Amino acid sequence: TAAQKGGYPSFMAKEIHEQASAVADTLRGRMENGRLHLDEMKIDPALLRSIDKIVVVACGTAANAGSVVKYAIEHWCRIPVEVELAHEFRYRDPVVTEKTLVIAISQSGETMDTLMAVRHAKEQGAKVVAICNTRGSTIPRESDAALYLNVGPEIAVASTKAYLGQIGACYLLGLYLAQERGNFFPEEIAEIMHDLEGLPDKVQAVLDNAAQVEQLAHDMADATSVLFLGRHVGYPTAMEGALKLKEIAYIHAEGFAAGELKHGPIALVDEGQPVFIIVPSPRGRDSLHSKVVSNIQEIRARGARTMVIAEEGDTDVEPYADVVIRVPATRTLFAPLLTIIPLQIFACELATAKGLDVDQPRNLAKSVTVE
Ligand code: G6P
Repeated sequence: TAAQKGGYPSFMAKEIHEQASAVADTLRGRMENGRLHLDEMKIDPALLRSIDKIVVVACGTAANAGSVVKYAIEHWCRIPVEVELAHEFRYRDPVVTEKTLVIAISQSGETMDTLMAVRHAKEQGAKVVAICNTRGSTIPRESDAALYLNVGPEIAVASTKAYLGQIGACYLLGLYLAQERGNFFPEEIAEIMHDLEGLPDKVQAVLDNAAQVEQLAHDMADATSVLFLGRHVGYPTAMEGALKLKEIAYIHAEGFAAGELKHGPIALVDEGQPVFIIVPSPRGRDSLHSKVVSNIQEIRARGARTMVIAEEGDTDVEPYADVVIRVPATRTLFAPLLTIIPLQIFACELATAKGLDVDQPRNLAKSVTVE
């Protein structure tokens, strides 16, 4: 297996470093001349025009991907999007009709909780699109349509490249919906897709900076608790960063919505508490950037060690950051494909530094085929 790891110490490290090509592979062949072609889904566009609600069901990392794409699909398509853990959705008598589109996200396509949610949704008359990596697996077979990630097999239990592929595939689906429903002028879609096609190079730029985060992980190998703060799409990114650290490094980790800080989590902050903060683009709307910068200032004043993930050129964060990790500028909605990467590297390196089995964490399975 050393050869299969391609010179990396673990499959997880290898899969993290494959993410630029993973994103390119998810996008490849699906856009042409400024239009999206998802005929492979074999779903009637008339049906896509009739839906009035979207429900995303998934578990684990796939659910965090769902929480990211909600921001984009609602913004682009003006359809309400709910994101729910599949096992919670299934047993609470959710409102689902023939006009509901269910998006089931699952790397393996075999997660029993997600499969039961799919079956329940179909019984209520909903249409189900599966976003999966494993071709021919159960969830896409039982769904009305499937869109595959095309990122290649993922071996490590902790999901990384499939997470980026899930976000990428759902973005294609969201833009396809917007295209078929006439939410945009064609040139607007073409412009968004052009930016999406620029993502693999930006992912590579973040990976090329891995050494900084690797060093940070080694320095923090004895940490016992790490907090993650983010706002808007940075919020699910914080959740996913915390999940990675729990899963493989067995460190207490929690992700919070930055706006919620003053409603509770700030009580956890004392001298030396490490906190990662994912900062929105300063070019974004609604002054979210300055609100998050204020949060960094507040926790720093209470002794937190602040590790800030910020866009290149964002100097506003510097006075309050112990460490600044830079990512290339991109659209606000595309930032999650970049900002998660330092957090994946951090978890992977820290677990490696602790001498843990990164690819086979205790008590976890790659695919959970029981409810
Ligand atoms: C398990 C794995 C996670 C994964 C989740 C959902 O808990 O350990 O890494 O995110 O299942 O898996 P799926 O195959 O449905 O995406």
